[in-house]
Amino acid sequence: MEWKPDKSSQIPVYIQISDYFETRIMNGEYPAGSSLPSERTLAALLDLNRSTIISAYDQLNSLGLVKRVKGFGTIVTLSTSAEGHVKRVPNWEEYVKSGFLQLNDPITRTIHKIVGSDKPYINFAIGELSADLFPVTLMQEAHSQLELSQYLGYEHIQGNLKLRESIANHLNRYRNIESSSSSILVTSGAQQALQLIIQCLLKPGDSVAIEDPSYSFSLPIFHSAGLRTFRLPVGEEGIDPEQIVSLYKQHKIKMVFVNPIFHNPTGTTLAYNRRKRLLDISTKYGIAIVEDDPYSLTSFNQEPMSTLKSMDQDGSVLYISSLSKIVSSGLRIGWMTGPQAVIQRLTDAKQQLDFGHSNIPQWIAAQLLSSGELDNHLMQLRVGLQKKLQLTMNALRTELGDKVRFHIPSGGIHLWCELQGDWDELQMFNLAIDKGVVFTPGSTLGSQSRHVRLTYSKVDDLLIGQGIQRFAEAYLQCRDEKNSR
Ligand SMILES: Cc1ncc(COP(=O)(O)O)c(C=O)c1O
Repeated sequence: MEWKPDKSSQIPVYIQISDYFETRIMNGEYPAGSSLPSERTLAALLDLNRSTIISAYDQLNSLGLVKRVKGFGTIVTLSTSAEGHVKRVPNWEEYVKSGFLQLNDPITRTIHKIVGSDKPYINFAIGELSADLFPVTLMQEAHSQLELSQYLGYEHIQGNLKLRESIANHLNRYRNIESSSSSILVTSGAQQALQLIIQCLLKPGDSVAIEDPSYSFSLPIFHSAGLRTFRLPVGEEGIDPEQIVSLYKQHKIKMVFVNPIFHNPTGTTLAYNRRKRLLDISTKYGIAIVEDDPYSLTSFNQEPMSTLKSMDQDGSVLYISSLSKIVSSGLRIGWMTGPQAVIQRLTDAKQQLDFGHSNIPQWIAAQLLSSGELDNHLMQLRVGLQKKLQLTMNALRTELGDKVRFHIPSGGIHLWCELQGDWDELQMFNLAIDKGVVFTPGSTLGSQSRHVRLTYSKVDDLLIGQGIQRFAEAYLQCRDEKNSR
């Protein structure tokens, strides 16, 4: 080999090698199926470290020109068309790996694959309502009044005006929050509001605090955005606000994400004095609070819960909610309210991302919220959810007795369970799937071991007992296997 890389060049040596072979592959010197010199041989010929050759071949691999096959070396993968042209297919595997938005963790991906399949799993994993809890008649009525001709164009990016007005009234009536149509942004579920906040108000390297465990913990969007996340453990009374002070002093955290009422997954509610203290700390140190509140209207005893936003005198809280857990997750109607500057900034981002939310769900949501029928629906919903919770707890007690512990929530849709003894989480998850039941392993939501989340809202009442029986079998089998080793 006469060619040698120029070690004095600005271009890294491995790139020069990759370029050299790229040219030769493209002009047919190395046809499809032929092998490049072995790493060792090429390193000796060019008087270089083998690691440089490995980097060069990896680069060719990422360009889709070669495949690294164990035992066979580096094989050219280009093919030739009928006309004799070299065909260069994009290396999709590399593209898939290199995007900036990180993948969900493998367990979450499995859950979504399973619940998207047509197999009849008993589903304790997905946070949505069962068919009998949706307000179908109300939705049908709203839908039948739809004047399609008015709703076929682009909608206002910030959200349909009637919907924003209905949301402002709803917030005032049900959550004691003052807002107006101009301070509300309609989003695709609460999740998009979280994403817009992360992308528009924070930058890579910023520090934020999230609850442990939490829904936020399960979202890769925090790390994809380059944020440093610090955890606030959640106890019976929610997070301890004093920990925010020390996180601020050590890491200058800029924002705290909390789900204070019927928290996902623990079902706990942040104690009133802690809510007050959190607000005090926020204003003392200038730390923004994101209050994520999709569950407060599910309260079983209908006790009014004071949202942080309703207690926020100084404007420190961005408030997020949605219709997903009380009406329909499929409508994808969420919203946030906050200072004008923030709403305008996020509206601009939403225009860039999706040009505003689809207008037919917005119309239906506006009709529903302004119909005066929500109270009735919420009453039925609470009864339905409480019944499902009771059936789930009864079945757990029957099947597992004191081997399972949980905090009894007074609202929400999740039961956070601690399973005693030694058992392998992944093994249990897979075994439960084999038995036809799916749940959320605790590690996807936080750092506490030996926990699982059972979301009872979606499971048909008649299937809860059977589902918990299969779940208990999977756990007992895993625990016994571990003990017998
Ligand atoms: C605390 C919390 N926030 C946000 C969401 C996202 O819900 P959606 O985007 O459907 O409103 C969920 C869903 O489970 C949740 O539990």
